[in-house]
Amino acid sequence: LYAAIPRRFSNRLPFWPDPVPADARWLLGEAARIEQCWLELLIGVSAVSAFGEIARSAHRVLERDPAYRAEREGWLRREFTPDGVPASAGGPQGEPQDVLPTRGYGGRDRAPGRDFEPEPLVGVLGSVGNTAVDQVIAGQALQRLLLTATDAGLSVSMLSQPIEVAPAREQLRLSLGRFGTPQMVLRIGYGQPGRPTPRRSVDEVLDLPVVPA
Ligand SMILES: Cc1cc2nc3c(=O)[nH]c(=O)nc-3n(C[C@H](O)[C@H](O)[C@H](O)COP(=O)(O)O)c2cc1C
Repeated sequence: LYAAIPRRFSNRLPFWPDPVPADARWLLGEAARIEQCWLELLIGVSAVSAFGEIARSAHRVLERDPAYRAEREGWLRREFTPDGVPASAGGPQGEPQDVLPTRGYGGRDRAPGRDFEPEPLVGVLGSVGNTAVDQVIAGQALQRLLLTATDAGLSVSMLSQPIEVAPAREQLRLSLGRFGTPQMVLRIGYGQPGRPTPRRSVDEVLDLPVVPA
């Protein structure tokens, strides 16, 4: 999976309609299980549209909050800087017919008919609990899942609106009939390669303890 690191980017563009085959789905589930987490794949139009309603309502709740909008704007980059989301990777603007909400990173308008895939493969990654340790484990599982997907030639984008709004998160958990805590939602499929995003240098993100001589 190490080799997949430089090729892994969130892909917010519409994917092709090709289904994700069973062996790739199995690999993704395994990636979550290896890290003591679970991955629930939503199968069928009704499961995806029920999830879409939860996600869109969470999105509306967040969008009503000026602090949320300011923070999102604050991470948007018109130019390629060492962090943030460059507009080139922001994906197209959302439209009312979309099943899933898009974060609104200032992407371009869509050409007519250039819709998102009608039946996206949606995966919910969850952990057993929600302590600080569970959250670190969920991050490790997310990392393994994203790299496994990249290695299998799959594109992924992340959707955290239903995780960030507590009632939506609970509704999502209940809709899955799962104990534990949903930690991330992923849209998985085949698409054009994701647009590169900047990386900070390793020195900047590693806070190593100073070991006395
Ligand atoms: C906890 C978490 C939540 C995220 N939520 C969203 C989201 O709701 N929408 C989105 O488009 N990207 C989301 N992302 C993706 C980040 O924006 C993205 O990983 C970051 O900008 C780096 O870009 P890269 O994935 O291309 O490396 C999330 C990432 C993390 C780690």
